[in-house]
Amino acid sequence: MAIAGASAMVPGSILSSCAKDSSKEASFDELIDRGGTWSIKYGRATDGEIPMWIADMDFKTDPYVANALKERLDRDVLGYISTPPEFFDAVAFWERSYHGFDVDREWIGYAPGVITGINQAYLAFTNPGDKVIIQPPVYDHFKLYIERLGRVAVDNPMIFEDGKYRMDFEGLERLFDERTKMLVLCNPHNPCGILWDKDTLVRLAEICEKHGVIVVSDEIHGDLALYGRKHTPFCSVSETAKRVGIIIAGPTKAFNLAGLAGTAFCIIPDEEKRNRYLGALKDAKLYEPSIMTIVSVIAAYREDTAWLESLKRYIEANVAKVEKFFSENDLGISPIRPQASFLVWLDCRKLGLPQEELMERFRKKAKIIPSDGSSYGPGGEGFARLNVGCPASLLDEALGRVLKAFA
Ligand SMILES: Cc1ncc(COP(=O)(O)O)c(C=O)c1O
Repeated sequence: MAIAGASAMVPGSILSSCAKDSSKEASFDELIDRGGTWSIKYGRATDGEIPMWIADMDFKTDPYVANALKERLDRDVLGYISTPPEFFDAVAFWERSYHGFDVDREWIGYAPGVITGINQAYLAFTNPGDKVIIQPPVYDHFKLYIERLGRVAVDNPMIFEDGKYRMDFEGLERLFDERTKMLVLCNPHNPCGILWDKDTLVRLAEICEKHGVIVVSDEIHGDLALYGRKHTPFCSVSETAKRVGIIIAGPTKAFNLAGLAGTAFCIIPDEEKRNRYLGALKDAKLYEPSIMTIVSVIAAYREDTAWLESLKRYIEANVAKVEKFFSENDLGISPIRPQASFLVWLDCRKLGLPQEELMERFRKKAKIIPSDGSSYGPGGEGFARLNVGCPASLLDEALGRVLKAFA
């Protein structure tokens, strides 16, 4: 299906005047002032610390998206709305054009945020006491909400060998029992930055189908595949994956819109699962995106990807800076290159420091705040996650402080 660009999809004035080459406006070097914006990231930073933890970037939002939001607000009309077809068209267009996934529009639904959307999948498809498999070290909110919702999180830790992670399929086979109902896949993987390949996903889908287990694939970092590589949407890999899979994703990471809570969507090819999931959302009255969500999804998922490509080149340069720094300075810390996203997983095990001391060293001596590797579960001890989605000058300052604190 040919969609000429976001502005063509939206009735009325929305997006009509903001169609321009947004890459021309992008200045990722600019130090932005996040003061007074209720930033969680900066709220934790005291005493001149540089916050490099939570996954949002110290860049302005894509100007095209920002302009679309401003234009919509300029109408001064914020009454009740119904979700326009253009919301679903935009997601279908993006999955096809950017990820090569030929999505049927019927498979797409709104999701009330990525984690909230995943939480609703636990509620729709599992019962209290049922087991949900995760593959640590992995995004901590998976386990947090599995447990808060009275389900049991079961770890299938990844195997880390020769600086590379892979799934432990043998370990996985041993975990299944009659209470195992779901597996949450982080695709791409946070915090290790892995773009899962097609063979791995095909195999995962087959094993899960054999054991009657649904795969919920969190693809929030999927638009940020680096180095010319491609993200592989889980349900795109096989008919089996279409039967067992539920994708939950959104533009909030790649387009830096995390404060627009509830900006996400689901893709569920299997009709029965889709009806059940969307029905559960409806029962919980969680099926209505806000105006800001709709506008931002339509604006982000447009034909012109120049801003996103510039962003990725900037992140790659920041990752290269981190790699060069740690190869020139033997501090006992090795960065693992992310294949996707702006989070660098730092292997600090050579330092031999207890985790608490390691994080103290970053925070109290270097005055930077990375995320604590141990918060991501087994395999995270001895690691820290560094958010390099920031101006290069800020990263230089942070690395200079690391040198003083760890030399
Ligand atoms: C893998 C992953 N999933 C979900 C989220 C959060 O998504 P949302 O804010 O839509 O709940 C994050 C945020 O860091 C993430 O890294």
